[in-house]
Amino acid sequence: MCGIVGYIGSQNSAPILIDGLKRLEYRGYDSAGLGIYCENRLNVVKAKGKVSVLEAKAEESKIQGTIGIGHTRWATHGIPNEINAHPHFSSDETILLVHNGIIENYAILKDFLIGKGYHFKSETDTEVLANLIDFYYKENNDLLEAVRKALLRVDGTYGIAVISKKEPDKIVVAKNGSPLVIGLGENENFVASDVNALIAHTKKVIYLEDNEIGYVTKDSYLIKSLDNATLNKEISEVDMDLEELSKGGYPHYMLKEIMEQPESLANTFRGRYIEEEGIAKLGGLFGYEERILNSNRIIISACGTSWHAALVGEYLFEQYAGIPVEVEYASEFRYRNPILSKNDTVIFISQSGETADTLAALKEAKRKGALTVGIVNVVGSSIARASDTGVYIHAGPEIGVASTKAFTSQVMTLALITLLLARMKNMSLEEGKEIIQAIQELPAKVQEILNHNSFIKKVAEKLSDAKNFLYLGRGIHFPVALEGALKLKEISYIHAEGYPAAEMKHGPIALIDENMPSVFIAPKDAIYDKVLNNIEEVKARNGQVLAIADKDDDQIDKLADYSIKIPRTHDMLMPILTVIPLQLLAYHIAVKKGLNVDQPRNLAKSVTVE
Ligand code: G6P
Repeated sequence: MCGIVGYIGSQNSAPILIDGLKRLEYRGYDSAGLGIYCENRLNVVKAKGKVSVLEAKAEESKIQGTIGIGHTRWATHGIPNEINAHPHFSSDETILLVHNGIIENYAILKDFLIGKGYHFKSETDTEVLANLIDFYYKENNDLLEAVRKALLRVDGTYGIAVISKKEPDKIVVAKNGSPLVIGLGENENFVASDVNALIAHTKKVIYLEDNEIGYVTKDSYLIKSLDNATLNKEISEVDMDLEELSKGGYPHYMLKEIMEQPESLANTFRGRYIEEEGIAKLGGLFGYEERILNSNRIIISACGTSWHAALVGEYLFEQYAGIPVEVEYASEFRYRNPILSKNDTVIFISQSGETADTLAALKEAKRKGALTVGIVNVVGSSIARASDTGVYIHAGPEIGVASTKAFTSQVMTLALITLLLARMKNMSLEEGKEIIQAIQELPAKVQEILNHNSFIKKVAEKLSDAKNFLYLGRGIHFPVALEGALKLKEISYIHAEGYPAAEMKHGPIALIDENMPSVFIAPKDAIYDKVLNNIEEVKARNGQVLAIADKDDDQIDKLADYSIKIPRTHDMLMPILTVIPLQLLAYHIAVKKGLNVDQPRNLAKSVTVE
């Protein structure tokens, strides 16, 4: 989703801003722009489409200067075009602003400003904010104070960076509900919505919290609360290398991230169990274990792929730890007035840690006194910081918009939490040890599936002309069916539905003919025979079947048109293995169709607006 970068120092800011915007491209956007101060003027270049288009225009215009701000925009108010792209000027071009988030009361503020003689060029809420800041700026020529006063009148979410031609020695920043981080360099400073844009320059950062405002000059900074108290903020060190962000020889980040799963999973579970006691050891939950175990119920809330991981978590917690679980979309949870008390635990799962709906749901759960637990990938992100406690999944940076390694690490984390709670309850030492052994052996089994990549590619190419797909699974593999269908939709734009296999006969069976492939997740578990019956039902209607099956399952080959064979592991961990062929299937179908796998249309990696 939208991205912000800013630079102040002694170098020409244009290439630094462009480079920063490129590092934010993975978040998804549809236009970009930058604004730079030079010789008493603020100059702006904008472009619809990719940052590379903006880069060419910036070079052509020779825009330069040592203080500037840049932005990638994912359209919310107004179509993606140059006029609506950021930065936005105030009416008389004194102030320039980039903004992530949504100003909810922008219409009222716009009417107020029109009454004061302001005029507007774009349809955006951001231009309203630029003029509102200008309105207060005219009172006392103090940019920080003008931004603070303007924000006191704003309802909504924002991460902003503002520059003024009257104070060309500072960038003013503020945050509420949309991330903003300051990067500290040597005689130069940076701002961004995401540390990815900064780590080429510095690893020393300051994360702004909600309702904080401040400025950076090239060699200093000041941070205040919105109610004007000066704050003493902690400087954090980012634990990430540039190398980790590059494609590492793969044609796409998505493929790199799929292939990294043996390692990312190992990073998730490393050091997190005590073998001889057959139990998990999760530092983040230390001291909270009893409260979680004795909760009336656990609610797991998330969006997108993380919501699918939550559904797997429901099976795990209920089956192995005997705790009642409900799973809810964060976007619904936040508005439903959920009945919660301090006897409930609400777990929030998020790769980015910045998803607006999940963050709002978390705040609601906290307000009602429930214990909030974050299962998050991005260290230091808003959800990680706002939760009472939590567990990082340690999957490493995930750049491809379609989530892959984060999903498997989320499921691994849920399995570890299950192991902890179940062993505290009534799981035997023997079963605990069996699970730990299965966890240790899992990366090699994941690798075994990844070694079938070229076979999966061939299957994908055969199926790539289909216009619709059905993904079917039962029990713990129903969420995997949903996730497989989501992967295909996201990157190949083929319509796909995930269904519990037995429900097929209550509707989707009407769609089946020779043109609609059905993907069955059919490992040999307790309901394997029932899934075979469902496959027969599809075959009886001339449907094509692709089965994800155990490697020793010869029976299924007689029924399915294609089968991808996978090793077995403990039932608790099977979703981690069954999802991998589905990730590769979606990837290869999208590549065959010539699509932009890492940045699919209309999607954003991190959805920081409602
Ligand atoms: C977006 C992404 C999805 C992701 C979802 C939730 O829609 O495109 O891949 O699953 O947000 O994101 P989160 O960062 O909270 O897991």
